[in-house]
Amino acid sequence: MIKLIEFQKRFDDRGSLSFVEGGIDIPFEIKRIYYLYNLNDVHRGFHAHKNLNQVAICVNGSCTFVLDDGKTRQEVKLSKPNEGLFIDKMIWREMKDFSSDAVLLVLASEHYDESDYIRNYDEFLKLCR
Ligand code: TYD
Repeated sequence: MIKLIEFQKRFDDRGSLSFVEGGIDIPFEIKRIYYLYNLNDVHRGFHAHKNLNQVAICVNGSCTFVLDDGKTRQEVKLSKPNEGLFIDKMIWREMKDFSSDAVLLVLASEHYDESDYIRNYDEFLKLCR
């Protein structure tokens, strides 16, 4: 399952401010935050997670997620700092089309654990069945 979450936004003549509150805006306890920046326009990701929920926010610039649940593939472009993309476990993701100024912030439900990654697409499809 994937879904877009819209965060609140306040703006005035000084600029804009958005906020994300644990337990309110995010459907899991946040255990880790990581962020991608200084990005070259190459594809990355190419994995799914056995047991990890994430919310990705492109806080600056834009990028596109390719999301695959083993049956259908869809693309979601993130370009609003007040929009989050919830990505459930067992969704294959690829990220592409990073603008040169893109900063992608990710909220994650678990600490980093390499054994949670599925990095082989055929294995992912087998586990989906
Ligand atoms: P990688 O999974 O290849 O990034 P992407 O999915 O965006 O292509 O991660 C790059 C490196 O960073 C890899 O060596 C694992 C490490 N890493 C951590 O140590 N902790 C983390 O929370 C994350 C997301 C990655």
